[in-house]
Amino acid sequence: MSDENINENEEVSEAQIAVHWKEEEYFDPNPKFIEQANLKDDEILKRMGEDNFPDGFEEYAEMLDWDKKWDQVLDASNPPFFKWFVGGKLNASYNCVDRNLAKYKNKTALHFVPEPEDEPITHMTYQELYNKVNEFAAVLRDYCGLKAGDTVTLHMPMVPELPITMLACARLGVIHSQVFSGFSGKACADRIVDAKSKYLITMDSYYRGGTLIDHKEKADIACNQAAKEGFEVDKVLIWQRYPGKYSAETPMVEGRDVFVNDILKDYKFAKVDPVSLDANDTLFLMYTSGTTGKPKGAQHSIGGYMAYVTGTSKYIQDIHPEDVYWCMADIGWITGHSYIVYGPLALGASSVIFEGVPTHPDAGRPWRVAQELNVNIFHTSPTAIRALRRVGSDEPAKYDYHFKHMTTVGEPIEPNVWRWYYHTVGKDEAVIVDTWWQTETGGFLCSTLPAIHKMKPGSAGPGVPGIYPEILDDDGKPLPRGSNKAGNIVIKNPWPGRMLTIWGDDERFVDQYYKRYNTKPDSKDWRDWPYFAGDGAVEAPDGYFRILGRIDDVINVAGHRLGTKELESAALMVDEVGEAAVVPVPDPIKGVKPHVFVSLKPGFEATEALAQKVTDMLASEIGPIAKPGKVWIVPDMPKTRSGKIMRRVLGAIAAGKDPGDVTTLANPQIVEEIRKQS
Ligand code: PRX
Repeated sequence: MSDENINENEEVSEAQIAVHWKEEEYFDPNPKFIEQANLKDDEILKRMGEDNFPDGFEEYAEMLDWDKKWDQVLDASNPPFFKWFVGGKLNASYNCVDRNLAKYKNKTALHFVPEPEDEPITHMTYQELYNKVNEFAAVLRDYCGLKAGDTVTLHMPMVPELPITMLACARLGVIHSQVFSGFSGKACADRIVDAKSKYLITMDSYYRGGTLIDHKEKADIACNQAAKEGFEVDKVLIWQRYPGKYSAETPMVEGRDVFVNDILKDYKFAKVDPVSLDANDTLFLMYTSGTTGKPKGAQHSIGGYMAYVTGTSKYIQDIHPEDVYWCMADIGWITGHSYIVYGPLALGASSVIFEGVPTHPDAGRPWRVAQELNVNIFHTSPTAIRALRRVGSDEPAKYDYHFKHMTTVGEPIEPNVWRWYYHTVGKDEAVIVDTWWQTETGGFLCSTLPAIHKMKPGSAGPGVPGIYPEILDDDGKPLPRGSNKAGNIVIKNPWPGRMLTIWGDDERFVDQYYKRYNTKPDSKDWRDWPYFAGDGAVEAPDGYFRILGRIDDVINVAGHRLGTKELESAALMVDEVGEAAVVPVPDPIKGVKPHVFVSLKPGFEATEALAQKVTDMLASEIGPIAKPGKVWIVPDMPKTRSGKIMRRVLGAIAAGKDPGDVTTLANPQIVEEIRKQS
């Protein structure tokens, strides 16, 4: 559509909004993969079909060991507070550790890859994991006096002591709340106070980008800040990166701080019986940001969550016990909880924990690790893929590793980045699943089934078994199936992985995820309670969903919705461009205009001509409507510690506003450098 056709004042409904993304060609799964896959038969789609809801989900619950079987699959009598596997009793730690001993006690549970390459990779067997989890559970129970239902906050880096701590908590029914180690002490404090954790468990130091960081410093900040907010932390338990040696500068606080290794000496070979817990008791909290400033604690169950992550790890991740599985996410995020720790270990897999930055000391590092450990399942984010491509697009070919399966998660992936992942990282051999889901959902919502569906770059795929997504317009009317029209994606039905509620705030839970599309607040029928995910999406005629990004990431140019990701994808088609981020900037005529920030691949120079090339590419790929207000060629993007580009900061700079607090960024100095260009 040309600019002339746009009536500035016309209200454009969601259903009318154009999406300008080309259909992509399909890729077939490798026959060798299909042959060995856990799930090759599409009967699953019937077993977990809408007609068999909710009983189809029993297939996942049956993958676990239960102390007592459930009496009822789903109790939906009080929507949207759904309860799964009601009456069932189990223990998550038992399911991830003890039950694997019979067959796999000698097999590696966790491979630990320290960031410094001269430190050897270590391998912990299931028997060793069992011993350590028991010993630390004894510390929690007998030294700390913790019991089922208590909360503890963890602020731990990517080390095996993190899953050990989580599994020790789970053994007792103690609710863990792990805060991403890259978060500040202040952010940790907010989460301690909200969870009311009397204990903080942390580590003295860890490696990041070549430096051994003093992490204990953040524990002091967290405790002091919590005290200011009126909450006292009783004790800080500190694991040591090098056991027996304190590797931080910050002094220990007497009476409050203790080294875990000192206490552990009294609990050598202690055994703690796993506590038999209700399926709907809480396993953990995972804080995530919402539309408001205050982070919210997604409260996940034991039974439903464990069933869901185990089932999806088996069928979507295709994890077999003999696989070496590497998810490069951080355990401080939901991806790490579900798909490094709980799902893979419940299946007896060998799971890799990588301490460091993927591009450190160079972009060959992940592929050297893959070669050394013979990793065959690889799982990461588009951001990491783009970064590895930008600095080392030829690296994967230099190493002798072979993946059967790869995952992308966390953001929409641009089709050309997907193709690099497929051809270069996957060497044309691996299947790819693009898994769309959220902290709140516990596990995958949309993805192809790796041995059953064809892959389509840039599309997550259909709802996974048992999940029925739909796209609604602003008024709650379903858009025609397969119409490729943009709207809001919802999940029509409850599923076992979904969080129980927001910790301490049932009202916010209902408001945030259900109010938007529930028209009958008194209804006791789950069909009146679609789950509102907060993402824009389109459904293609083949039933594949393409996620456009958060609703608030959508740019409304003169009443036309353009997914930021669509624009970025187009900018990335310019050969010289390594990374691209698009932000909406207020415009007096069109409401907003997109500004495009690009950083270049090594060896290219910022020129006017290059900026024009980006503009032309957007115009030719999407249409004149997408012409950016400005193209900024920047040395690097402002990024969070987890690698996400901070579009909010870019938006503020572009709008000539104060970008606010940028101290938590991985590279705060870049903000000033970019600002100088305005
Ligand atoms: O916008 C979607 C995007 O990430 C959001 C959820 O973020 P978080 O709770 O941090 O969980 C990340 C790991 C699951 C979603 O609302 N998102 C996640 N996966 C995808 C995605 N966007 C597009 N494609 C995906 N595969």
